[in-house]
Amino acid sequence: MAKDKILITGGTGYIGSHTVVELFNAGYEPIIIDNLSNSNIGVLDGIKAITGHTVIYENIDCKDYNSLERFLEKHPEIVAIAHFAASKSVSESVENPLLYYRNNIVSLLNLLQLMPKFNIKNIVFSSSCTVYGQPDKLPVTEESPIKPATSPYGSTKQMCETILQDYAFANKDINVILLRYFNPIGAHPSGEIGELPNGVPNNLLPYITQTAAGIRKELSVFGNDYNTPDGSCIRDYINVVDLAKAHVVALNRVIEGNNKKNIEIFNLGTGSGLSVLEIVTAFEKATGVKLPYKIVGRRPGDIEKVWADTSYANKELGWKATETLEDTLRSAWNWQQKLVEKNLATTNG
Ligand code: UD1
Repeated sequence: MAKDKILITGGTGYIGSHTVVELFNAGYEPIIIDNLSNSNIGVLDGIKAITGHTVIYENIDCKDYNSLERFLEKHPEIVAIAHFAASKSVSESVENPLLYYRNNIVSLLNLLQLMPKFNIKNIVFSSSCTVYGQPDKLPVTEESPIKPATSPYGSTKQMCETILQDYAFANKDINVILLRYFNPIGAHPSGEIGELPNGVPNNLLPYITQTAAGIRKELSVFGNDYNTPDGSCIRDYINVVDLAKAHVVALNRVIEGNNKKNIEIFNLGTGSGLSVLEIVTAFEKATGVKLPYKIVGRRPGDIEKVWADTSYANKELGWKATETLEDTLRSAWNWQQKLVEKNLATTNG
């Protein structure tokens, strides 16, 4: 009998590719569509090196309804979708909001419109802790209020959540899980897949590893005058493999029909907050590499502090982040060094 196939949109991206690996490990057959707008086709080799599987892949843009439809026609065994394909840079979204609304909203609408036609009942969506804005109370639970978005990127995540809530309300036979990621970091321990930012990284960890590799001169720490113990911002940094494993559990839950409601929301974090300066120190300790940095002004749009209450995910999904920060930072450094070896380390920008 053919195995259950799971469609991974954005499967060559950072979190998508790690989820593909964990799905193979769990006995599923993930298949990928991606338009490679922010990823590299070489990721498929990395997936093969780790799992031994050649993954089915097609270059499809989820905004293209007809291509999506043709692809689904060819794969009637798809039982669930994990929808990662989206644009994710906060700063780029401020400069080019229409790109973000079009990419992130139209892609989701197309998938939702096609699901009933192909009898696909389950979808897991990549949401973000950005929907909470600066929470009044920490840690944030899934019931914490949604705050006005501070960027078009954040707006798209909120809008997609609303679309999925309305869709689930109208289609009781469809199961939706919204996963609100905190800050994903690290790479697969094999060093075969990891984060591959285009140009100058916006996110902290790739900037740190590129600085450690000598590609960037120094890290700019955005602000040391926040109301936090050392003055720098606090986030909940979660290992990307832990995050990927949560997707396997979530997909399994809806496929097996173990969900309690037809739309469920889970925070995916570690439950602890760390400051930027704590990450810098931990990175130096984990890798033995000195990290040049300077304190600069605050980055517009940054919130001061956020970390997750993960008790609902721990209890309901039976999932918990288990990787240590030290191993996670080492995995990110290991991946960066492999990129330099493979000549893929970005030097543009
Ligand atoms: C943001 C979004 C998050 C989104 C992610 C994807 C918000 C509140 N968060 O996360 O939802 O999923 O982008 O890109 O919208 N930092 C430095 N120097 C740097 C880079 C970062 O000091 O060169 C600091 C930032 O000020 C921040 C922390 O590191 O305090 C993490 O930043 P980053 O990795 O960009 O993620 P977020 O902004 O938290």
